[in-house]
Amino acid sequence: MTDRITKAVIPAAGLGTRFLPATKAMPKEMLPVVDKPAIQYVVEEAVAAGLDDVLMIIGRNKNALANHFDRVTELELSLASKGDEKKLERVKESSDLADVHFVRQGDPKGLGHAVLRARKHVGNQSFAVLLGDDLIDARDPLLTRMLDEHDKRGATIVALLEVDPASIQMYGAAAVEATDDPDVVRVTGLVEKPAPELAPSNLAVIGRYVLKPAVFDILERTPPGKGGEIQLTDALMEMAGDVEGTGGVYGVVFRGRRYDTGDKLDYIKAVIQLASDREDLGPDLRPWLAEYVESFDRP
Ligand code: G1P
Repeated sequence: MTDRITKAVIPAAGLGTRFLPATKAMPKEMLPVVDKPAIQYVVEEAVAAGLDDVLMIIGRNKNALANHFDRVTELELSLASKGDEKKLERVKESSDLADVHFVRQGDPKGLGHAVLRARKHVGNQSFAVLLGDDLIDARDPLLTRMLDEHDKRGATIVALLEVDPASIQMYGAAAVEATDDPDVVRVTGLVEKPAPELAPSNLAVIGRYVLKPAVFDILERTPPGKGGEIQLTDALMEMAGDVEGTGGVYGVVFRGRRYDTGDKLDYIKAVIQLASDREDLGPDLRPWLAEYVESFDRP
C-alpha cells in the first residue's frame, strides 16, 4: 500500500513566445479559456484528483499567477457590498481551491530541470506533474486513473495519446508492450521529439505524469538532451529500464477529450469547444456557429 499522493507540480516558467504580443507582460498560463485562465483548469483538475498541494515552478514576470491564486480583498469587499454573490463566488474560486506554492526556476534549462526544482517541496513521495498546455476535459478523469495505476503497480505512470504519425515530432514518443489491460501499456523506451521515421510508435506522451521520487536522483545526473535542455523524457527512459528497482514506467492510453492551449490554432479550437459545451453560452453559441460556418460556402 503506497501513501496517498497529495502533491501536484505545475511547471509554468515558459516564455510563451508563440502567443506574443499577448504574452509580453503576462504569462501564457493566464490566457483566458472562455472566462478562466488556462492554469485554473489545471489546478482544478489536480484538486478533483485529490491533489490539493500545488507547487508551481515559475519564471520571472509570473506575479500574475501568484495574484490569481491569492485573495483580492478590495474586490471581494466591493462585490459583497453590492450583494453580487455570483461574482463574489467566481472571484473566490481560485483562492479557495488549493494550497498553492511557488518556486522560481532560475535558469530555464528544460522540463526535467523544472521538475527537479520541486525536489525540496515534494520530498520522498510520489507526485503528479501537470503541464499547463494540455487541458484534459473534466468529464474524462485521466489523472485519477493514473493515480490508481500508480498505486496498483507501484510504478511511474505517463499519459499516452495516439497521434497522427506526422505529429509525433512534437512529443515524447513511447515504445510499449501490451498488458492485460487494454488501456495500460508497459513503456519499454522513450524518445523526445523524434523524426517520424525514427519514432518507436505514434503513442505520444501528453502532459500528465505520476512520478516516483527516484526521478529526482536520475534528473540530477541527466545530461542536456534534445534542444540542449534537461529532458524529463530522458530520465523516464532510464526509469523504464527499472534499474535500481524504480518499478518501471507504465502508460495509461487516454481516449478522452484533450485541448492543446499551447498552440494558437488549437487554443482557438479549445475556446470554441469548451464554450459550445457550456450551459450558459452553448445554447446561443452553437446555432450562431453553425450559421457562421455555413456562410463559408456561400459565394
Ligand atoms: C513536453 C515534453 C514532451 C511531451 C510534451 C507534452 O514538451 O518534453 O515529451 O510530449 O511536453 O505536451 P513541450 O511541449 O514542453 O516542448
